[in-house]
Amino acid sequence: MHDFRFVGNQLFCEGVSLASLAKKFGTPLYVYSQHTLTDHYQKLAAALAPVDHLVCYAMKSNSNLSVLRVLADLGSGFDIVSAGELQRVLAAGGDPAKCVFAGVGKTAAEIEFALRAGVYCFNVESEPELQRINRVAAKLKKIAPIAVRVNPNIEAHTHAKITTGTYENKFGIAFEDIAGVYARAAKLKNLRLRGVQMHIGSQITETTPFELAVKKVLPLVEKLKAKHGLEFFSVGGGLGIVYHSMLASGVPAWWQSAAAKNILTPASYAARLLPWLQPLGLKILMEPGRFISGNAGALVTRVEYVKRTGKKNFVIVDAAMNDLIRPAFYDAYHEIVPLIRNGKATLKSDVVGPICESGDYFCKDRPLPKVGEGDTLALLSAGAYGAVMGSNYNARPLPPEILVNGKKFAVARERQAVEKIWSDEKVVAWLK
Ligand code: LLP
Repeated sequence: MHDFRFVGNQLFCEGVSLASLAKKFGTPLYVYSQHTLTDHYQKLAAALAPVDHLVCYAMKSNSNLSVLRVLADLGSGFDIVSAGELQRVLAAGGDPAKCVFAGVGKTAAEIEFALRAGVYCFNVESEPELQRINRVAAKLKKIAPIAVRVNPNIEAHTHAKITTGTYENKFGIAFEDIAGVYARAAKLKNLRLRGVQMHIGSQITETTPFELAVKKVLPLVEKLKAKHGLEFFSVGGGLGIVYHSMLASGVPAWWQSAAAKNILTPASYAARLLPWLQPLGLKILMEPGRFISGNAGALVTRVEYVKRTGKKNFVIVDAAMNDLIRPAFYDAYHEIVPLIRNGKATLKSDVVGPICESGDYFCKDRPLPKVGEGDTLALLSAGAYGAVMGSNYNARPLPPEILVNGKKFAVARERQAVEKIWSDEKVVAWLK
């Protein structure tokens, strides 16, 4: 569930009207609900309560310092993929000892930084990486905790660009090779074999692929535990969220019928997985990103022009693919609603940004209430992989981010000053 809803004709995030935020801070603008972040984290933690567990929020989905602090205060760990992300955790007051370091391309410098910071574990994606971590740890006279990422070769039935658990992908080590890799890793003196990890993809909306992957990997995990005395099994992230009908009144139908349709909720996820995981007797780690941050955010934008050409009605807004790239990149659906309901009839529209690319659109031929210049719109479920994937394409400053908590709100990121975009550039000497 989430905390964006209409009160009368006005769209609110918790106790704050989005129109008032748009007026105060301008557009485009990201708005996050602290309550949704908290609620989603707590729902997952509660679902995993029967087992010893650690939720490591995949901060790649939204790494704003305030978002990280909300989660750190709840006791969350973090799934990090770069030294930069670890530095963000530290800057936000998170605990490095609850961080798992993932990614196929960790540099020696990043490994050294993470080892000095004392991360919980490195999720290792290749044998050369094991060798490198061992070398860096030896140099620092440290023992590096590691888990190998198993690629279970399970089809997750999600978008091709975000599926990771098959042999077509660059991720992890093939299921069949894992036992040999652990045997060789056990001989490396500066490694501690702490766990096993897997992750099959993102935006997976059914429990079945997770269950199939866990069932497949489980006997291997049991063997590795017996042989190498492991401490944890990480089932990765990837829990999908709802992008459609977010503002249906009352309890949305999808939520009511979720269990019946095998749709993923924390409870249905736990009900399907815990019977397999509990007997293992290992600590269970999870790396959810989108599930925690996705529905917690909206991108607010203003209509600049409405233009009809040929058969099309184009609503040209001041946000663009540089602010939210998901529709352009993954054909992703984000629900779009006016901040103030106007009761006007709907009209099939393309909502597009000002960037000079045909890919710069948020929806195509979607029935939307008729809007005009100056009206404001919200793109919902933009809390995950929204602001973090933003760029300065077309010399567009990054939008501000506002955190809402009840009736309170505060700037969690200032609107970028336009000069900052080129502040690291120079006109080279011979051109002066
Ligand atoms: N663990 C690993 C190893 C991952 O690669 C990922 C995401 C996660 C956890 C968190 O996945 P989540 O729970 O958020 O699904 N930009 C894309 C999604 C990329 C996901 C990359 N890996 C999008 O906007 O859909």
